[in-house]
Amino acid sequence: MRKKITIIGAGNVGATAAHWAMTRELGDVVLMDVVEGIPQGKGLDLLQGGPVDGFSYRIEGTNDYRDTAGSDVVIITAGLARKPGMSRDDLLAKNVAIVKSCAAEAVRHSPDCVLIVVTNPIDAMVYTAFKASGLPKRRVIGMAGVLDSARYRTFLAEALNVSARDVNAMVMGVHGDNMLPLVRLANVAGVPVTDLLSQEKLAEIVKRTQHGGIEIVNHLKTGSAFYTPGLAAVEMAEAVLKDSRRVLPCAAFVEGEFGISGCFLGVPVVLGAGGVERIVEFALTAEERAALAQSEAVVRKQMAATGL
Ligand code: LAC
Repeated sequence: MRKKITIIGAGNVGATAAHWAMTRELGDVVLMDVVEGIPQGKGLDLLQGGPVDGFSYRIEGTNDYRDTAGSDVVIITAGLARKPGMSRDDLLAKNVAIVKSCAAEAVRHSPDCVLIVVTNPIDAMVYTAFKASGLPKRRVIGMAGVLDSARYRTFLAEALNVSARDVNAMVMGVHGDNMLPLVRLANVAGVPVTDLLSQEKLAEIVKRTQHGGIEIVNHLKTGSAFYTPGLAAVEMAEAVLKDSRRVLPCAAFVEGEFGISGCFLGVPVVLGAGGVERIVEFALTAEERAALAQSEAVVRKQMAATGL
């Protein structure tokens, strides 16, 4: 059976996710947006790359949720993006309304889907989608950890002058300044980075990772990052579609894991056909626990602000 992926929002992140999904041959893609013409135009443009890149699946742009019916994975990217001077929280109220309607509509037509939420502020929007969709918690996942960890790995690789492929490192917690790039567990082909880089350098990398999003906003001036956010969402979608049981940091609903309950938070999860197959829990140091508690506090504030 061909898999079907719906991407809601044909802006930069959505269109880029569609691009990655096509080149990775994940299945047929539906690019959905309320703006007339944009998803159709971008979809047709992407489809015409098939003969050149050699992908076989179809992509279709639409303004009609009926075309999204029966999707295995739905990626929500719709919403406003950050401008310089804007925090992710400034977006909250506007994007709650958008994500609520996207999640409800999408799940009405694809009741068996796994929802991947990318819209910012991600930790609040994944909660919004969970509430609005009525889906079980394991089938609603927020994208943030894959992106933040990719930034962290990139900066570590640059500092060490090694391939980023061989850098294993994870960011937990909120997708914001309080995120927790784990230094203790970061390694290059199994060698701890704490043996390879000074504490000062590691602290600098941690800080740059925490501000990785705004660094790009400040360059672009008219919006935020989209290449790697789109890719990160597709990486998660692929794990679900292929039931590959990848272990990826994602915003998942925690119920006691890491001592936290009742919110979405960036934690390592096993991703498979059912969505979050399980959360991979491990012992944190007192310092890491304190940092995660700060993330939790931010997430709880965001959740309260959604009014849901
Ligand atoms: C970023 C946006 C997606 O971190 O929050 O680039």
